[in-house]
Amino acid sequence: MKTVYVLNGPNLNLLGMREPAIYGSSTLADVQMLCEAACQRHALALEFRQSNHEGELVDWVHEAGRLQAKGELAAVIMNAGAYTHTSVAILDAIKGTGVPLVELHISNVHARESFRHHSYLSAAARAVICGFGVAGYGLAIDAVAQW
Ligand code: DQA
Repeated sequence: MKTVYVLNGPNLNLLGMREPAIYGSSTLADVQMLCEAACQRHALALEFRQSNHEGELVDWVHEAGRLQAKGELAAVIMNAGAYTHTSVAILDAIKGTGVPLVELHISNVHARESFRHHSYLSAAARAVICGFGVAGYGLAIDAVAQW
């Protein structure tokens, strides 16, 4: 059974109360349940995590990379939050490990402020999902199950 890493970056622990007009009313616990159900459908194991710390996200990409080296990783699905727009370190971790990445955003970042239009991660992503709300997590898992 392969494992999907779903990694969430800064402020995603506030889902449900954070700018609900943009991010909706589901909590991160709801998103985790949605991901668990999607992984069960596809017989995938799930590692679902959130951190407000860039280095911790880097460490988790490295951890996923070790599974990748053993052929046990399905993909990393990452909503890096604001680090999407700032983090060369996360980009380097993705490139350095070679993990297959889905970059995910709940909102349509391209319809928002211009500073959200650039992503450091897209250059290393196999796919990008944005604007589907939290349903994007399920869509991403359905897609990586076919990889
Ligand atoms: C986000 C979009 C980012 O621009 C923002 O900083 C987030 C969440 C999203 O899911 O839409 O924290 O990644």
